[in-house]
Amino acid sequence: MGMLETLRSVLRFRRFEWNSTKRRLARAANIDDLRALAKRRLPDGVFAYIDGAAEDEITADRNRSAYRNHEFVPRVLRDVSSVDLSTTILGRRVAAPIVLAPTGFTRIADSQGELAVARAALRAGVPYALSTLGTRSIEEVADVGGPDLWFQVYVWKDRELVADMLRRARERAYTTIIITVDTAVLGRRERDVRKGFELPPKIGLDTILDGVMHPGWTWDFMRAEPIRFANVAGSLDVDGTTAITLADYVSDQFDPALSWEELEWFRERWDGDIVLKGIQSVDDARIAVEHGVNGIALSNHGGRQLDGAPPPFELVGPVRDAIGDGAEVYCDGGIRRGSDIVKALAMGADAAWIGRAYLYGLGAGGEAGVDHALGLLTSGMARTMALAGRPTLGELDRTMLRKRT
Ligand code: FNR
Ligand code: LAC
Repeated sequence: MGMLETLRSVLRFRRFEWNSTKRRLARAANIDDLRALAKRRLPDGVFAYIDGAAEDEITADRNRSAYRNHEFVPRVLRDVSSVDLSTTILGRRVAAPIVLAPTGFTRIADSQGELAVARAALRAGVPYALSTLGTRSIEEVADVGGPDLWFQVYVWKDRELVADMLRRARERAYTTIIITVDTAVLGRRERDVRKGFELPPKIGLDTILDGVMHPGWTWDFMRAEPIRFANVAGSLDVDGTTAITLADYVSDQFDPALSWEELEWFRERWDGDIVLKGIQSVDDARIAVEHGVNGIALSNHGGRQLDGAPPPFELVGPVRDAIGDGAEVYCDGGIRRGSDIVKALAMGADAAWIGRAYLYGLGAGGEAGVDHALGLLTSGMARTMALAGRPTLGELDRTMLRKRT
């Protein structure tokens, strides 16, 4: 055998990928790599809105460190030749215990926005939750379809507007509403204050330079139809044509007087499942169960609301102990790896929700970037379960975790 042939068989070069997005994504080994790619591609103000959190961002940091503070108690020599992630959420079959959490203004990361995320969720076989502040409509997302579509509700002072959105969601086969209860007023995101971030984002003279520095995003943004609040446009003074800060918008429109009694109003208008998102204490989890909700999403809004709120991961165990099987329990905030999801499930969560993990993917590479993010999380879960010696979701329990002291 010739020298050259030997060399050729040893040095098998990877075929060159001509699509630059695919090339970039192929090198993203984890969610933090996707974040770094998104940071490069997105204008600074847009990245800051997605990545940022309230005040000192202590809660956002602790959301993540809570997972690092727990380690596994691995078991070995158990048959882990097949790992199964499929399960049910609220009685419906899903491919993995993951929900794509609602995020507003998704189109600022990529012009396809919520449609790209919904398509990726459909491919991955997991629920997608559309935000009230979505930039694609209830109907557009319904046209994508999915194993299970959810709609997140912010409670407008104008209840007729809310009732109308519920009607539209029911008509288009959304199964579940999420009522977000941690946003009576908007948390102070100081990165946005510094950037003067306004909605909808505009390419004005002041942002031209930023645009030149991020040509891919700018080109995509300029060619697409203007970003607007797709579900509430037309019904508001602010319909997306005037720039406004998010904090002003929220204080104008959201109802800070919302209280437990009003859950009845929703029950009368929604016969599907109801999830409360933003529960942050054992006491409120108990009250939620007394009110008959189907699911409790332990969440501090990714650290974007009350800085100093506890990491949801640390509430999973106490809440599960307090409510038993009274409702499904979900956990979000700081989830960046499949192993984080395994830990949340081991403590007693029924599913984990992700926000920034998929937004970083979307910012890094559009729809393919969301696919990549979901692939990293599900393969990470499967690998973790194999290495920890718990190949089925039923075997994930507290005996597999230990808190580091
Ligand atoms: C959010 N989140 C959110 N939640 C909600 O109920 N309605 C919304 O419109 C939004 N919008 C939103 C925008 C952006 C850019 C982010 C990052 C988050 C909160 C979201 O649903 C979820 O609770 C967090 O994202 C979870 O934390 P991680 O996964 O981002 O760390
Ligand atoms: C946010 C709002 C949209 O977190 O929920 O930015």
